[in-house]
Amino acid sequence: MPNATVLVVDDEPLIRWSLVNRLQEEGYRTVEAGTASEAVSHHRDGVDLVLLDYHLPDANGLQVLKQIKETDPDTLVIILTANTEVGVAVEAMKNGAFHYANKPFDLDEVMLLVEKALETTQLRREVRVLRARNAQPYSLASIVGQSDSIKSVRALLERIGVSPASTVLLTGESGTGKDLAAKVIHYISSRANKPFMNITTSALPETLLESELFGHERGAFTGADRQKRGLIESADGGTVFLDEIGEMAPVLQAKLLRFLEEKSFKRVGGSQDLRVDVRVIAATNRSLQEEVKKGRFREDLFYRLNVMAVELPPLRDRRGDIPLLINHYIDSFNTEFRKKIRGVAPAAMSALQSYPWRGNVRELRNAVERAMLLADGNELTENHFPMLTVGETELSTGMGLPPEGINIEALERSLVVQALERSGWNQTKAASLLGLNRDQIRYRIEKFDLHKPTA
Ligand SMILES: Nc1ncnc2c1ncn2[C@@H]1O[C@H](COP(=O)(O)OP(=O)(O)O)[C@@H](O)[C@H]1O
Ligand SMILES: [Mg+2]
Repeated sequence: MPNATVLVVDDEPLIRWSLVNRLQEEGYRTVEAGTASEAVSHHRDGVDLVLLDYHLPDANGLQVLKQIKETDPDTLVIILTANTEVGVAVEAMKNGAFHYANKPFDLDEVMLLVEKALETTQLRREVRVLRARNAQPYSLASIVGQSDSIKSVRALLERIGVSPASTVLLTGESGTGKDLAAKVIHYISSRANKPFMNITTSALPETLLESELFGHERGAFTGADRQKRGLIESADGGTVFLDEIGEMAPVLQAKLLRFLEEKSFKRVGGSQDLRVDVRVIAATNRSLQEEVKKGRFREDLFYRLNVMAVELPPLRDRRGDIPLLINHYIDSFNTEFRKKIRGVAPAAMSALQSYPWRGNVRELRNAVERAMLLADGNELTENHFPMLTVGETELSTGMGLPPEGINIEALERSLVVQALERSGWNQTKAASLLGLNRDQIRYRIEKFDLHKPTA
């Protein structure tokens, strides 16, 4: 651990000098103290390791050791004692010293101890960093994949995360990881401790969406019996994620643009300009350029959003990541379902690797989840992945009734689930995949008690 700082505490200048000299030769930074009180105060400035003499003018080394351990239990302390003072060494070890060295000491031996001790701190710190990372819900490592395209996505997200950029646009088909990318940007940024607010633009009628975003004053419209803060206001200091921005009504597009340019807004029915500091991440699975051409999306807003844009690649364009993702989800569902699935049989894996994955990672995740619920053995095979054996065209043209018959309810449920998954739980889109209207699909969602997975 080069660059580590070692505090040398001894009241004899000559001993201090020889230790400091040698430590510096080895590449360590050093701080010196001749008394216990100096030692304690230097330690507070942050040191990694302390070489601590037992006999000090104003206190003994054990007292200093206890103080140091109270301030920072991770500081390593090597106590220096005369070899006649066996009791001191024992007491020091009991009180958390890393080791002791007997005076007169051999410098080589002391250096070896220092090196070993610092390896321990390094490890402890790494463990702490890893723990902190795990405690964090989303990090760059949440984005699985080693393909060039996903690597450059990660690199871009990392840059955006630390940059002050106030708007970001995420594009990509449904299920490619736009939600995930938005959370990663938020949680790796300095905004991580502030709110991450998430709204799906298409889920609400225009007027409601406006008051959800910007809030409203009391009496702004019928039913507005109280003042309400909007998402943007509540997210101050944090991030607002606007999903399906392509579906936003033109009036709101104008209001959003004004907010992005001026960083201020008015609540619905309000006259006061409110200022907040939020990063807006917008996502869409449509081509906004196309929407602009068709006159459905404001060109100025598109350019404003497009300054920082990240495109999430469809899974079929990075097939090398398919086995990685499958194994990633096997691991995570093994834990969740307490199963011991070891992997996917080679034939099934190659079929999965050439499957189209129109629903992208979302479809893959759900396919693995279903397969693991079905599997009793310790390996997943083609039988556990029904979509590999049931051709899609076969379904649409009518499938042959198998000789043993079929459970039509279960089939219907499975089709509704698949349609919802493929459309990212957009009921209108799912309904159109099944040739149903919104009411008809709502009825089935209720009948089968289906819920959008939280994750
Ligand atoms: N690269 C990835 N690595 C791991 N999981 C991913 C990846 N991309 C997407 N996912 C997962 O796939 C599912 C769908 O992703 P999501 O972000 O909701 O897609 P989108 O918002 O683009 O429709 C989520 O469970 C998400 O965690
Ligand atoms: Mg999404």
